Amino acid sequence: MSNFDKINLILKLEKKEEILYHNAMCGIFGYIGEKNTLQICLKGLKQLEYRGYDSAGIAGIKNNNLIFCKTSGKIFALEKKIEKQNLELDIAIAHTRWATHGKPDEKNAHPHFDTHLSLGVVHNGIIENYAILKDFLKNKNIKFSTETDTEVIAQLISYNYEKYKNNLYLTVHESLKLLKGSFAIALIHKDHPNIILAAARESPLAIGFIDNKNEILISSDPNAFIGHNLNVFYLRNDEIALLSKKSIKTYTNQKKLIEKKTSLLEGKNQTFSKEGFDHFLLKEIFEQPITIQKAMLGNISEDFGTAYFEGLKFSSTELMAIKHIIIIACGTSWHAAYIGASLLEDKARILTTAEIASEFRFKNPIISEETLIIAISQSGETADTLSAVKEAKAKGAKILGICNVKNSTLTREAHSCIYLNAGPEISVCSSKAFTSQITILSLFTLLMARLRHFTKEDGQKFLSELKKIPKIINQVLEKQKEIKKISIKYSKYKNFFFIGRKYMYASCLEAALKLKEISYLNATSYPAGELKHGPIALINKNLPVIAFCSNKQTYDKTLNNLMELKAREAPILAIAPNNAKEILQIADDIIFIPNTIDELAIFPTTIVGQLFAYNIAKAIGIKDIDQPRNLAKSVTVE
Ligand code: G6P
Repeated sequence: MSNFDKINLILKLEKKEEILYHNAMCGIFGYIGEKNTLQICLKGLKQLEYRGYDSAGIAGIKNNNLIFCKTSGKIFALEKKIEKQNLELDIAIAHTRWATHGKPDEKNAHPHFDTHLSLGVVHNGIIENYAILKDFLKNKNIKFSTETDTEVIAQLISYNYEKYKNNLYLTVHESLKLLKGSFAIALIHKDHPNIILAAARESPLAIGFIDNKNEILISSDPNAFIGHNLNVFYLRNDEIALLSKKSIKTYTNQKKLIEKKTSLLEGKNQTFSKEGFDHFLLKEIFEQPITIQKAMLGNISEDFGTAYFEGLKFSSTELMAIKHIIIIACGTSWHAAYIGASLLEDKARILTTAEIASEFRFKNPIISEETLIIAISQSGETADTLSAVKEAKAKGAKILGICNVKNSTLTREAHSCIYLNAGPEISVCSSKAFTSQITILSLFTLLMARLRHFTKEDGQKFLSELKKIPKIINQVLEKQKEIKKISIKYSKYKNFFFIGRKYMYASCLEAALKLKEISYLNATSYPAGELKHGPIALINKNLPVIAFCSNKQTYDKTLNNLMELKAREAPILAIAPNNAKEILQIADDIIFIPNTIDELAIFPTTIVGQLFAYNIAKAIGIKDIDQPRNLAKSVTVE
């Protein structure tokens, strides 16, 4: 029995896989060309920084030797170390790692190598059966020096290299067959000093090249190609590309040489600036009156009181036939999904649920030809959302994507896509993408309602309220000083409850998440009526309650709930519409916001929640507000 057969047998026999350490949310960058390899790779890595990471590294070939440099921490630390080492590289692969399991230290940073330092690999994704492969290789006396799954790829390929007579492509092809899980990899080998080998399975990997192929760039995120005009294609389904100057050969998983379709990417140089704000987050919060207008731009017909979307490829007949909608998303996007579901059910009268993507795919969901799946993702790269989309597609569902990042995986997987047009969101903690998602969902609801029972006048009324939102948000932003003062007062607390009813419950979910993400304080959100069913046991004078009271339909009931809390000495901060004077008797502090209809009150209340979280984070001295600890912008593992 060959070694491969043995491993395959183990794979078949294995009942349970153990994932102890792996790397995720990472960024891959690689370069072959005549320019300064190090500078181009570092610039590429910097474009990937926004995703969140905690270590970085680079490896390349010089004079037939494999040379590398890795650090924990940020790219500027890597830059410094590279300078110190006087590093020079001809071709290179580079990486930003975001650790989920296994310490974010230098040793676990990518690239990873085989014991003989003959090859180096950078990797995104998870090798699910890495433990079993590691055991197999350890039994062959191969010594591992890191806790990552990626090292298994390096060691396995190295182990098989001789067997395939030093044919790098064949070795990788055969080795990848033994891997379970998802991956995008770039690999260099000192015996093949001019080649980068790239491969991908269920994890994005883009290859860009100039016409004469004198320059080839690789990245897990085409945003990193900024500054280069390139022909770009993506690898998928275990395809392998052998890249060297002037030559790109792509093979299918059946070893068939193929021509990949390319699209032109004009990577105009783009510099991201805070434009005088202390953080990207604050800048992005203040951008919202404009980004909401951008989300509406071109999508509205005032004459007919409805919405149009250029990217929507479903016909009116298809849309009219929809009787059931499932919205899938994660994190902040799921909060938008929650609002979207309420809107669609309330206004368009379509049975709609918001599902957390990581749960959805294991539910054996009921999907019929009358079901529409809406997948919401700012980045378009969230693995949980993408897997849920694939599950829904396997069940025959129509998929509508709502996404901010052009050319992202979701935009390719969905049958049809609506873009947010919010511009790049640099802060890991989402702000403007959220309000743009709600804008698109409000417009989509309007379209679906107009195709059903909404009259032209109903539609026009809704549109006129929606069009007031940017102005309303400006009025809330003008309260930044007042919100800051109140936030400083509340920054002495360690735990918070956020409560609200109906549409305001979604405001609570999002406001509490913002506070958790950037201030590292414990914040829990509840529908206001639910507090008395358990959580009220926790209430005392050290547990402030932030109450969102901007839902007219449930206003009186929310006040009753606040009275119950006041009786138990909870400090109360209310966010309430300008005319809600009754609240003066109940709350300790009030932030008054402009009036709007219930369905749209999420907009002004969200801005208050964002500013409250930001100001608390600043007040307690959090430094890394734009890249909070442990968080990543694109979560590319499940
Ligand atoms: C990560 C981010 C969250 C974000 C979520 C979904 O967890 O830290 O801020 O809401 O992913 O991201 P998506 O790009 O799919 O909207």
